[in-house]
Amino acid sequence: MEISNKLKQLPTQFFATLVKKVNTAIEEGRDVINLGQGNPDQPTPSHIVEALQHAAADPKSHKYSPFSGTYEFKKAAADFYKREYNIEIDPNTEVAVLFGTKIGLVELPLAVMNEGELMLLPDPGYPDYLSGVSLANVKYETMPLLEKNNFLPDYNVLTEEQKKNAKLLYLNYPNNPTGATADIPFFQDTVELAKQYNIGIVHDFAYGAIGFDGERPVSFLQADGAKEVGIELYTLSKTYNMAGWRVGFAVGNKKMIEAINLLQDHLFVSLFPAVQYAGAKALTSEQDCVDELMKLYEGRRNAFIQECKRIGWNVKAPKGSFFAWLPVPEKYSSEEFADLLLDKADVAVAAGKGFGEYGEGYIRVGLLVDEDRLVEAVQRIEKLEIF
Ligand SMILES: Cc1ncc(COP(=O)(O)O)c(C=O)c1O
Repeated sequence: MEISNKLKQLPTQFFATLVKKVNTAIEEGRDVINLGQGNPDQPTPSHIVEALQHAAADPKSHKYSPFSGTYEFKKAAADFYKREYNIEIDPNTEVAVLFGTKIGLVELPLAVMNEGELMLLPDPGYPDYLSGVSLANVKYETMPLLEKNNFLPDYNVLTEEQKKNAKLLYLNYPNNPTGATADIPFFQDTVELAKQYNIGIVHDFAYGAIGFDGERPVSFLQADGAKEVGIELYTLSKTYNMAGWRVGFAVGNKKMIEAINLLQDHLFVSLFPAVQYAGAKALTSEQDCVDELMKLYEGRRNAFIQECKRIGWNVKAPKGSFFAWLPVPEKYSSEEFADLLLDKADVAVAAGKGFGEYGEGYIRVGLLVDEDRLVEAVQRIEKLEIF
């Protein structure tokens, strides 16, 4: 049996090669410090695990979920947005339950675009956005995220043609991979652009909980009129260390939410009701576990950045997310530099090129190992005498 043409045209996974290289090095018995991936290293808080255990034993959880998810989970998502961002969300019409936000990001072009229509994506950006482009057979053009613009897209450089033709525009702040954050005026400009040119906005808020130096990341929906033009995707993967559970949601524009739900009616019955129950508990319980996690990440960020500066590496501290985006010394490409660090220092990082053309010149480091290992990674790099 041959696979379909649709599957044949899927983009190749740049990072599959990295994972292979790292695994080979580990199998060889090398002590690799793996800073290449984005998998939260801390466990899910125990009250959430206990909620799952309790709900898993309840026969009510053993039935099919309502197709669009339980009211309880959708209400918890709405209450979460009210509490955290003071935004009113109707649980019945403005929430779509997702098996993690990756699926929502991939589904959206299928749900609201026709073949050949145009989508605008950030570059560098989360590679899975391209999976949705390919499955829906739509076109995409990129918006460069440049350091001189604080890694925000400059809408002034979009051509009239791009603005007129774009059906969807993706944003992601706090940003993977650059660690940049956005503010409400930027989101307000985005809403104005969207209204003027009738573009649907999708804000990927995966790192919504992770902001440093006392600055809380803002929601796209805090901009006036945001719900008229777009949605925001929120995942429990990072805020509550629930990456393996596959639970997230989209909130905002009714039409876009309805389209996701319609597509999902045909693809899935919603998540295991016990996962939705525990997810609702995560969103509505005391948030001390989130505060503690943020302190942990900020401590790691500070230790790591300080050590980089000590060895003479001219780096900037990320403002949010659990990634640091570091400049590559001039004589190397990002891939060459990542290979060098793995081969000679047993430190795995992600080459910026894997996130798009404008990722060249950088590497991405995940702050997802203990502080002392992060410091050790920099000390190993120091021995290469590059800086
Ligand atoms: C920018 C960004 N968006 C979305 C996701 C997907 O998260 P999940 O599918 O676990 O909700 C990730 C995960 O790494 C991410 O980095």
